[in-house]
Parts: sequence; structure tokens; C-alpha cells
Amino acid sequence: MGRGTRDRLKLGVLISGRGSNLQALIDACAEPDFPAEIALVLSNRADAGGLERARAAGIATGVVPHRDFEDKPSFEKAMTEALDAAGVELVCLAGFMRLLSAWFVERWHDRLLNIHPSLLPAFPGLDTHRRAIEAGVRFHGCTVHFVRTAMDTGPIVVQAAVPVESDDTPDSLAARVLEQEHRCYPLAVRLIAEGRARVIDERVVVTTTAAAPPATLNPMG
Ligand code: GRF
Repeated sequence: MGRGTRDRLKLGVLISGRGSNLQALIDACAEPDFPAEIALVLSNRADAGGLERARAAGIATGVVPHRDFEDKPSFEKAMTEALDAAGVELVCLAGFMRLLSAWFVERWHDRLLNIHPSLLPAFPGLDTHRRAIEAGVRFHGCTVHFVRTAMDTGPIVVQAAVPVESDDTPDSLAARVLEQEHRCYPLAVRLIAEGRARVIDERVVVTTTAAAPPATLNPMG
């Protein structure tokens, strides 16, 4: 996918909520040398706060309310039609709270990213920060990965670790992780758009150069 700024990778961002990761992508795409642009933001909820962020940035938005469709295939086909019509090449799940079917995941194979608030494969699913504290892990973090059919699995593009402090609450830990999420998602998109992150044998191989940022963000490093 290697591209210059004149031929930016077209992103579709799927949200259900406040959209702080969407905002991080909007901000990255506003930088003149960023190799991607957001072509469409789709939400399954009309009241998602992220839709306002997209509108404020002049980005096309769409609402595809899952309850209006009789089944998951018709909901996902409607989303795919909207993404195709906008010329989307890479779909970014950013707090999108619907489980996607194998059909959708295969339709966007290696063109579908998710951000998850844990160091996968630890703590897939919900409530990751509370579970990390209860497990007594010393490090927690976030992962940007290509999506596969099993929930919260798939080749890892970027991760960042944060320390877990002894007085952390799920909220304080979530805030520390979220700060890193906002660094990881733009980096993952950049690596893919520049053709530097490729899936080989179900692992992401990243080409690094002296000038290029590292593939792993780790504030402890
Ligand atoms: C983030 O923590 C993300 O990792 C998870 O859902 C949350 C979305 O937050 N998948 P936001 O809507 O991007 O602020």
C-alpha cells in the first residue's frame, strides 16, 4: 500500500461512542505528511459523541442503526455498501460495540483494524482494566491488530505498555492506557499506509528504517 501524501489511504472509521480514538485519527490525518485520510465515519448509534467530532472536522458521516435491520448480514451489507461507496480501503474499528460476523471479517480481510484496551492476547473481551488489576499484572496496555473471526484476535500491528500502580482504580488505569491508544492507532495506520506493515504467516512484519518510528510504542522503553 506504499503511498505519498497525494495518494492517501482512504479510511472508514466505525464507532459506537465518544470517539476519542477517532479524534486521534482525525488529528493525525490533519498533519500534512500523514499518508491516510478519513473518507467516512459510520456509527450504529445516532447519539454517538464521535459523530459530532467527525462533523466538526468536515468528515462525511453515516448512521447505520443495527436495530433497523432484520438480521446481522443485512446490517453488515449496508455498512459495506456505504464504505465501498466512499472508496474506503482500510476500516478502523474505534470503540465499535457490535460483534462482526465472519462474512464481514473476511470481506475486509487484512483491511480491518481494531484497537483493544489490553496487551493481547491477555484480557480479550470487556472490562479489561478491572480484570488486569484483579490479576495483579504489573504491565497493562493496548493493542492495534488486524481483525480475525475470533473476538479480539488477529495479527498485532502496534502495542504500548503502561505500568499498573498499586493504587490504580479501573478508571485511573483506563486513562493511562487511553493516552497510549491515541498514539498507537495513528502509528498503526501510518505503518500500513506506507506499506511498512504487512501480514506474513499471520504475523505483522514491520520494515523499519533509521528515520522511521519504531513498530512498538512503549513509554517504559
Ligand atoms: C477504547 O478504550 C478502545 O480501546 C475500545 O473502546 C474504547 C473506545 O473509546 N475498543 P473511544 O470511543 O475511542 O473514546
